[in-house]
Amino acid sequence: MSLLLHPSSVETTSSRRCALILDTALDRKRQLVFVTGSTGIGKTALVDALLEHAIAASALVARGACVEQYGTGEAFLPVLSALGALCRGKRGDHVVEILRRHAPTWLLQMPGLIADDDLAAVQARVQGATQARLLRELADALELLSAHRPIVIALDDLQWADNSTTELLALLGRRREPARLLVIGTCRHMELGKTDALKKVLGELTSHRQAATIALEPLAEAAVGEYLEARWARHRFPEVAHAIHDATGGNPMFMIALLDDIEARQMVRSIDSVWQLFASVDDIRAHRPDSVRQLIDIQIDRLDPAQQRMLEVASACGLNSPSAPWLARSISRSMRWKTAARGSPSKVGLFATRERRRGRTAHCKRDMRSFTISIEMPRACELRRPQRGSRIAA
Ligand SMILES: Nc1ncnc2c1ncn2[C@@H]1O[C@H](COP(=O)(O)OP(=O)(O)OP(=O)(O)O)[C@@H](O)[C@H]1O
Ligand SMILES: [Mg+2]
Repeated sequence: MSLLLHPSSVETTSSRRCALILDTALDRKRQLVFVTGSTGIGKTALVDALLEHAIAASALVARGACVEQYGTGEAFLPVLSALGALCRGKRGDHVVEILRRHAPTWLLQMPGLIADDDLAAVQARVQGATQARLLRELADALELLSAHRPIVIALDDLQWADNSTTELLALLGRRREPARLLVIGTCRHMELGKTDALKKVLGELTSHRQAATIALEPLAEAAVGEYLEARWARHRFPEVAHAIHDATGGNPMFMIALLDDIEARQMVRSIDSVWQLFASVDDIRAHRPDSVRQLIDIQIDRLDPAQQRMLEVASACGLNSPSAPWLARSISRSMRWKTAARGSPSKVGLFATRERRRGRTAHCKRDMRSFTISIEMPRACELRRPQRGSRIAA
């Protein structure tokens, strides 16, 4: 079985790993998997492809997503939505029956699934339920369900997971009982703070081989080229692949937004079924769709003030300009910057450290690029460009 999304070597490896993990789960060896990587790198797309294969293998499939919650947020939000989907799905009656008998606390949290005349009996069975019991109930119920049919549960955007969901993942990873169960979550790992419970759980489970991590990387230039060949049949401007890769850093989401936009603006057009270029390669490289600009602004707003300042400076002087060494020196000299960067998940911190240790190497450039394409995005530069003569308050 293959899960080829596109022919890039990196993605093929990830797809193959997904296929192997699914096969292992179908073979009664439970699997817990985290797909990690930055925004738009293809985590959800990879999980979508895996779910299609799981459905083809007659598994029960459900998914839920975390949302960025302010305040305490709702406990088990993604798990409840996945469970609700299972209950309303094809074999819903069977799922509800198992939950009624083995996980009544969960069933009570999903209104509308219990008949009125059954409600009092279910309520009586959940008296005095603790959080530990709640977790155990669901783990038991999933194992029982998987005896009839394999189950795949996908949880998206775990970087926003509530602590209860994280606890459940920790328990599911530690259980050893055989089950045809695969729980797969996507996570922008870089956005997890050092103290986030999920970061700890993820580290502990993977180091004890109780969970696997699939870390997605940006597309290689060759993969961008192959994608363009598939999208623009018989085009004769292969040099555009380099420009697109350069402009987007190989991020699939940015790449697709850029391609959609240059097509909409007719910078490339299909004439008599042959794609032709109606703009210069430099124009394409410099083009930034509004959708991408908005995404960049959201990413920048999530950074702490010291990191934002770093970006302002990097954007203003550009990495390849003669001012870049000065920029690096300014940052690494600054105690406040170092404090802010320490413990930060951002690769900006790495940039500063490596720049100091190794000089201006290819490593630091790659880190900057993979941290955010935003650094080189014109609007980010304009918006964040410091006032002339202003000092770096680091
Ligand atoms: N390998 C790929 N081939 C082609 N298109 C892709 C690939 N990976 C992702 N895409 C496209 O890129 C866009 C972003 O992908 P996706 O939603 O999977 O990113 P993500 O990593 O889940 O992002 P986020 O962290 O924001 O949830 C989607 O339109 C998706 O279809
Ligand atoms: Mg996603």
